[in-house]
Amino acid sequence: MCATPSSNTNGARLKTDQLAQWINAEWIPAHPGPDWLVLNESTACAHNLVLERFDRDTDLAGGFRFQEHEPVEAEAAIAPVFEYNHKANITGRTGAFRLTFHAAETDQTVEVLMMAAYWTDEGHKIGVACVPADFLPVWTEFAAQCGRLSNSLYPQPKVRIIGGRSESFEPTTSWDEIILPDELKAELLNDVESFFTKGADIYKRLNLKPFRKLLLAGIPGTGKTMLCSALAKWAIEREFLVIYVSSADYCGAAFWKIEAALATAADSNLPTLILLEEMDAYLRDDDDKALVLNVLDGAESRENEKGTLLIATTNYPEAIDERVLKRPGRLDRVFIIPEVRDADYAERMLRRYLGDMWQDDHAIVAREMVGYPGAFIREVAIHAMTRVAFADEDALSVAVLDDSFNRLLDQITAKDDFLTAHRKNGFGFTLAAK
Ligand SMILES: Nc1ncnc2c1ncn2[C@@H]1O[C@H](COP(=O)(O)OP(=O)(O)OP(=O)(O)O)[C@@H](O)[C@H]1O
Ligand SMILES: [Mg+2]
Repeated sequence: MCATPSSNTNGARLKTDQLAQWINAEWIPAHPGPDWLVLNESTACAHNLVLERFDRDTDLAGGFRFQEHEPVEAEAAIAPVFEYNHKANITGRTGAFRLTFHAAETDQTVEVLMMAAYWTDEGHKIGVACVPADFLPVWTEFAAQCGRLSNSLYPQPKVRIIGGRSESFEPTTSWDEIILPDELKAELLNDVESFFTKGADIYKRLNLKPFRKLLLAGIPGTGKTMLCSALAKWAIEREFLVIYVSSADYCGAAFWKIEAALATAADSNLPTLILLEEMDAYLRDDDDKALVLNVLDGAESRENEKGTLLIATTNYPEAIDERVLKRPGRLDRVFIIPEVRDADYAERMLRRYLGDMWQDDHAIVAREMVGYPGAFIREVAIHAMTRVAFADEDALSVAVLDDSFNRLLDQITAKDDFLTAHRKNGFGFTLAAK
């Protein structure tokens, strides 16, 4: 059995409710006077190192300066005070803390209650702050600075991988390396860019969660993973958060990974790009499918107000049934990522992968490659170049290139025939009797 997080996003909500209930029952009655607001807040504002290093001479709005932080006794079961360390550095803290701010000019002191607690065994925390309403502008500025300080103390990996190994997704692809119709690339980039620059605000104005979902669909090897990698690189350059959901571990395509990705996005105060490869695999089980539909509706997930963009890929759009594809709002847009559709693109692809070996008379073979995906053309190029190297030759002849193309084509056809035959037999492999 694959270990799944002990709680789901509802867990975060339950924990938040628990903290809020304690605040309403205990803290607010004991501190009458201010008009208290209870807010979801980044746990950076409870972090001991962040608070210790926060510059006490920094002027916040209204001339307030951060003074002190001290533990407050809350019910141990709700927010136990607990410090944990990683490689001898204290890297986090849960509990309830009183944060004091002072404005010298008006000699005014204001207290804020900040609580942090775990909601999963895997170390996911949530934070809740209880702030006097008229102090909100000062607090917002303070919380943003805590976030920046926390990021500089603990730089996060550029891509968070959920499932799979941390080195399994390195976004190094540049946009120019991808050979696809320019309009398609431009439209995709434009969709992503305008969501983060303008779209997220429009969603909010319409009272919708700023959560957009795109699907890249195409046969294997057309460049979908390359597009994901290039978009991830683009997002990292803008200091966005990138989350890559991987099914490449023994848990496979498990629904909790999608849920964990959304929870991580919601906990972040950065615009967030989630990459979900081979989405169809998450829809195989009917129960999982219902959960995925729910998540795509977004009604139950917590939001990241800077915007979350989910980019999913699939080889089998037909496996993503009508309830997902056709219902408005579940997938906002589908981009078909095509195989090489004309001689010009086939030539560009072949030139790219032959590099210095390219000769103009190879164009004739390139023309035969129309209709195949980029990955296939690359394989032909590698095959042909290997033969040139083995034969110790300097140039690649049209004959060798054409022969490589036909050999790989035969391999594909043989594989197809094999699979078709076995599919017809219901994949019932029988061993020949000896
Ligand atoms: N449009 C393309 N432009 C340039 N190279 C390409 C393109 N498509 C595929 N390739 C080459 O083929 C390799 C595999 O492509 P990629 O992994 O992006 O395909 P994919 O669409 O994600 O396939 P799958 O559906 O099987 O996951 C790439 O690393 C690249 O070398
Ligand atoms: Mg892929």
